[in-house]
Amino acid sequence: MRIAIVGAGSGYMPGIVRGLLHRADDLAGTELACYDIDAAHLDVMTRLARRMFAARGAALTVSSHTALKAALDGASYVFTTFRPGGLAARHLDESIPLKHGVVGQETAGPGGFLMALRSVPVLLDIAAKADPGAWIVNYTNPTNVVTDAVARHTNARIIGLCDQFAGDTEMWADLLGLPSDGLEADWIGLNHATWAQRLRLDGRELDVPLLLDDLEVPGGGATPWRDPSRMAELARALGFLPNSYSKYYFFHDEVVAELRAKGTTRAQDILAMLPGYYAQVAAEAGKADPDPSRERGGGEHGEFAVDVICALARDEGRRMIVNTRNDGAVASLDADAIVEVPSLVGRSGPVPLTMGPLPGQVRGLTQAIHAYERLASDAAVTGDRRTALQALMAHPFVRSKHTAEKILDEGLAAHRDHLPQFA
Ligand code: G6P
Ligand code: MN
Repeated sequence: MRIAIVGAGSGYMPGIVRGLLHRADDLAGTELACYDIDAAHLDVMTRLARRMFAARGAALTVSSHTALKAALDGASYVFTTFRPGGLAARHLDESIPLKHGVVGQETAGPGGFLMALRSVPVLLDIAAKADPGAWIVNYTNPTNVVTDAVARHTNARIIGLCDQFAGDTEMWADLLGLPSDGLEADWIGLNHATWAQRLRLDGRELDVPLLLDDLEVPGGGATPWRDPSRMAELARALGFLPNSYSKYYFFHDEVVAELRAKGTTRAQDILAMLPGYYAQVAAEAGKADPDPSRERGGGEHGEFAVDVICALARDEGRRMIVNTRNDGAVASLDADAIVEVPSLVGRSGPVPLTMGPLPGQVRGLTQAIHAYERLASDAAVTGDRRTALQALMAHPFVRSKHTAEKILDEGLAAHRDHLPQFA
């Protein structure tokens, strides 16, 4: 079996390698065809992978490619994990909306929209070049817009990933005083806009409203990914568990003020730490038994992606939360919407489980986000400026034609080199 990794020079690669190691027996004999446009980063990461596989006796081979087609040829699984334009482009995604009073975030809102415009053409190219029947296993953000574009506009098979639910479930275990081992939440909705009304511990259904009655709102504790205090506040108001990204919707103006006060974007913060990070990975790659830091994509990130590939390849029928075509799983969203929902993942792809309607408290919001995503996907595929404007106008952060126009004009100009469809 051959797995292509597109974006193998990414800082997330050490976590992916660990994920591959934890399923090494199931993947024995597999070749990893590693591709990146950054030859230096690709070299560091492939050396690291080879060393780690050798040290642990894993029967996985690694080939290195700077030509996309050569990496894709013969691959049954194409794992995509890249950011077109890199962190410099992310900085623009995060700062352009903020200038106009809108949250600047890499996946949610206009920042995510600009990233979608860059990501989608690259994914369409990969879909066209991949072997017929290959599965694209996609982490490239915004994962659901990318998945939607490929699903509706190509013949390729794609499954969209995000490991947010794993960290969020852990955060909720902590907030509710429950063990995280054996805790399972039914997160449903759209990527980075999911909600959980049902929670199980070791298979036993818990009474979520009762748990929330006793929930205390903790102070502080916010990280770049999670804000437990605001999540507890929201859960008490809504009556179920919200995804971490809901803070951008329900605390929009406070977040704008905080982002402005902070002075640097998340992209700038990451850019500042990356040289040290790659130096550490390079040093580890020279050791007999490397143990690189997991600073990028800690926790479940790599394991989750590899588990999804194994579930597809080995027809495991495993229950996993992935982004796929709705087909009635979430009653409040279109049949052909790409939803994030518990699914059984086997050889023929994810089969989403019937989850009923979205809770009324967030149904309209989630439907509005979906309407935006559909327009964003169409704009990214066609390069039609009017559709792009409509997408931004439809987004719950924006709702203003003039603001949408300013962000669009600035964004299209700033990212011109990565937007061939708008040329
Ligand atoms: C979470 C999200 C990802 C996102 C990442 C950003 O893991 O689920 O979709 O890309 O956070 O993390 P970063 O460290 O780059 O800000
Ligand atoms: Mn995500």
